[in-house]
Amino acid sequence: MTDLSHIHRFAPGNRREAAPLLLLHGTGGDENDLLPLGQAVAPGASLLSVRGNVLEHGMPRFFRRLAEGVFDEDDVRRRANELADFLLEARRRYDLEAPIALGYSNGANIAAAMMLLRPEVLAGGVLLRAMVPLRVAPKADLAGKSVLIVSGHSDPIIPPSNSAALTSMLENAGAEVEHRTLPVGHQLSQADLTLAKKWLQSQSSFVVQ
Ligand code: MLT
Repeated sequence: MTDLSHIHRFAPGNRREAAPLLLLHGTGGDENDLLPLGQAVAPGASLLSVRGNVLEHGMPRFFRRLAEGVFDEDDVRRRANELADFLLEARRRYDLEAPIALGYSNGANIAAAMMLLRPEVLAGGVLLRAMVPLRVAPKADLAGKSVLIVSGHSDPIIPPSNSAALTSMLENAGAEVEHRTLPVGHQLSQADLTLAKKWLQSQSSFVVQ
């Protein structure tokens, strides 16, 4: 669909009690990438999968960066707000509750930025290979929201201190954060899927039959 501000795909779920997921791809991905992951970790949940509005040498992203891991923070703010506005429109269009974001890499980073800048639009987040999106944390109230951060021990892009700092930033805003580190790099692994699925099942809004 293209008439809202972001190209996206919506796959309605057949279990109304399952929290919807907002799927956010990594650099160079698109709205098709994470649909299979979403189906695997949250069977029956509605899936809203979005394409980033920024192009870096033809590769879709959710915000501009100056170098790998060095972000244009004004753009992070602008794009996180745009995505939050899109999400409000999409929720009306598809009659959705606030979703849990499931983001990978650049998609996890914009999800973290959205949680900090527009805490009301997301119910929680599964952030796979996420980094601190803004050096100075905005004032946010994330009380009652839960976040799973999954890092890779040998991730060449994200030092362990960075994912630890993101964990603290979200915790300081009141979120309940589970931070797990897998013996992998930046790429996703089967273990990510297993952790994400278990964590989603443990969320109260995600009742497994
Ligand atoms: C980012 O730009 O968000 C991070 O460097 C991760 C990536 O997309 O490569």
